[in-house]
Amino acid sequence: MSSLKDKVIAITGAAGGIGAATACMLASRGAKLSLADTDASALQHLSRDITTKYKTKVLTTTVDVTNSDQVDQWIVATVKHFSKLSGGVNLAGIVGRDFGRKGAHEVSDHDFDLVMKINVKGVMACQRAQLLHIEDGGSIVNAASVSGKMGIPQALAYAASKHAVIGLTRVAAVENGHRRVRVNAIAPGSIDTKMLDTAREVHIGDNDHKSPINRAGKAEEVGALIAFLLSDEATFTTGAVYTIDGGLTP
Ligand SMILES: NC(=O)c1ccc[n+]([C@@H]2O[C@H](COP(=O)([O-])OP(=O)(O)OC[C@H]3O[C@@H](n4cnc5c(N)ncnc54)[C@H](O)[C@@H]3O)[C@@H](O)[C@H]2O)c1
Repeated sequence: MSSLKDKVIAITGAAGGIGAATACMLASRGAKLSLADTDASALQHLSRDITTKYKTKVLTTTVDVTNSDQVDQWIVATVKHFSKLSGGVNLAGIVGRDFGRKGAHEVSDHDFDLVMKINVKGVMACQRAQLLHIEDGGSIVNAASVSGKMGIPQALAYAASKHAVIGLTRVAAVENGHRRVRVNAIAPGSIDTKMLDTAREVHIGDNDHKSPINRAGKAEEVGALIAFLLSDEATFTTGAVYTIDGGLTP
């Protein structure tokens, strides 16, 4: 099990399914956490649970990732509080209202703009702020999706946004290798969270049982992959897109 002892990790979407499971996993391996989400009360609950269970230090901040000033202030405050930044995990994301409902010929400007603003500009702003402050040898993990590697019907905005996350991950990886800063993306398939409930409602999460593993993934399984990518066991891994989908995609 990879140790994260004394690493300071900033996580967005921390109150969500994968975010909360990741926060618990990183805390259990010794990391100090700076948790951000728009859902202030869920963040408070999570922080209380983690502090009680793992006795680690947790800072929580209400942040809308589409607001670059809020993102910059959050990362500056994180470094001020913990005296360093070792890693960033950028998970905040949405599927959008057109997901599972509208084809490429009818997708709305409003939905496209909103999904791109949260999923792409949000990750860009977080990654940018983290790159400015992260220590040499640090590690950033961005949330893409299997939808970032293939065409899924009626998921145009979401798929376009996740393809873009892979692009901004790869550029940051090539630019920051000289200081041993690694930037990777994860590409989950169906993972059992609130987001998957939404996808199932519109029949896009019905792939759970089509994978060789024959079930949806658990948020903790994604947390374990993220913990590995943040750790010193992954020091030669950068610019990679790690698929975690039970074998659904080739
Ligand atoms: N669950 C899946 O099946 C799955 C599959 C592939 C990729 N992903 C990706 O993994 C990431 C996490 O997904 P999840 O399943 O935990 O989703 P989730 O819906 O459970 O959590 C998403 C979190 O992001 C937060 N958020 C949304 N907009 C925000 C904003 N503007 N600023 C700050 N926080 C915001 C929400 O409050 C929520 O806590 C997402 O980027 C998602 O696209 C999930």
